[in-house]
Amino acid sequence: MSAELRHLISINDLTNEEIEKIFETANRYLAELGDPDAPHRIAKSKRIGTGSILATLFYEPSTRTRLSFESAMLRLGGRTISSADPATSSAAKGESLADTARVVSNYADAIVIRHPRDGAARLVAEYASVPVINGGDGAHEHPTQTLCDLFTLQREKGAFKGLNVVISGDLKGSRTIHSFVYALARFGAHIMLMPGGKGMELPAHVDWRLRHEFHALPVPREKYEKENADIDVLYATAEQPHQPTLLSASDFKEIDIFYMTRFQKERYAEGAKADYMKVDFNFLNESKYKSASVMHPLPRVGELDADLDGTPRAAYFRQASYGVPIRMALISAVLELDAQNNLEKFAHGFRTAKHPVHTQPRELGIACPNTNCITHDPHDGSYAGNKFTVVTEDGLRLRCYYCETDVKADIVGHAYSKLYEHSTSIRDLQDTVFFANEADAQKAGFKPGARNHAAAE
Ligand code: NCD
Repeated sequence: MSAELRHLISINDLTNEEIEKIFETANRYLAELGDPDAPHRIAKSKRIGTGSILATLFYEPSTRTRLSFESAMLRLGGRTISSADPATSSAAKGESLADTARVVSNYADAIVIRHPRDGAARLVAEYASVPVINGGDGAHEHPTQTLCDLFTLQREKGAFKGLNVVISGDLKGSRTIHSFVYALARFGAHIMLMPGGKGMELPAHVDWRLRHEFHALPVPREKYEKENADIDVLYATAEQPHQPTLLSASDFKEIDIFYMTRFQKERYAEGAKADYMKVDFNFLNESKYKSASVMHPLPRVGELDADLDGTPRAAYFRQASYGVPIRMALISAVLELDAQNNLEKFAHGFRTAKHPVHTQPRELGIACPNTNCITHDPHDGSYAGNKFTVVTEDGLRLRCYYCETDVKADIVGHAYSKLYEHSTSIRDLQDTVFFANEADAQKAGFKPGARNHAAAE
């Protein structure tokens, strides 16, 4: 187990300063890559990765993420080993992710993992003895895509603060969006949500974190509705927690960035079809979009008209091209290859270290409510703990340690006395077992405790 390694599982593992440092380095590398002599120059002066090996373990399809990671490592002078097809790796024989992580740690200096299960990357990080980078885990997060997205935004618009960013498409299933909205809030952009179809709204726990942890405040509808009737929710980011936003309707008249994603059909029941939005010249004709850059993490599958490609507003191919310098900068930071690119020791970065992590026996008490979480995988799940970050700002809110889905715990059980109570506070975390409800506590052999009786009387 490796608590001090520099894993990047969530965008919140990096502080804003660290993100800016990575961008500074990426700009430096980009300038060199843009030089006609660059391949030679980089080979000579920047072979800082010589002798290092990056392993890319991809259990889900990928073009950009895997190839740009590999290209980045090669451009740094390092080498890559790859397992891109689960059917040809030991996963096909039933090897667990945990064992793969332990084994591959001996073959490489860092691991990039992509997996269909939410929380899989955190599980790999628990068992690896080298840094682990999340290349996309289920619908959870895709932090390196967010680094590319933010970097694009910075290059297109110069700054983040106060930008009006429309986030459209599959807000529920897109991991790229989940990482991106946290970062946008942290950097002070205004986030305007436009779900691409029914049932594709932002997950409740992402919305909760935006509001309670990243100072994003929902703006009352009348402030933006006239210009933006198609916007579902708009958050403005306050400088300080609980500060009211002083913005007026005119502040939301012009859109700076229009970011969209495809319908993530692999995250829905088989055969699910969506009545999905389509963005074309016609759509972007409205005056509010006149200076908007269009971004998309790609691949697109019909939701973004190819006629837009030749226009300067189409930023998506530039966005994809930044994958190499950004990932070069990230690899060099994680492997500590570049003295000018030293990050703080970010064991947990922005990830609110103020919240304790609690583990309870797997067979006892509350479980993660997300059925696609790695903890529920019939095979890999047994390697994951029944582990939660305990967030106490809003009653007892537990956050799955792996996929970061929240669940409310109504019942606090005491492991030693086997008594339980309705409570929103914890006396001794060591002695605590969380339950979702009384029936579960009783099924586990716990009995109502003193405080519980008092409440019932
Ligand atoms: C994204 C992903 O894998 O989440 N792709 C990427 O890495 N650029 C977006 C997507 O698949 O829709």
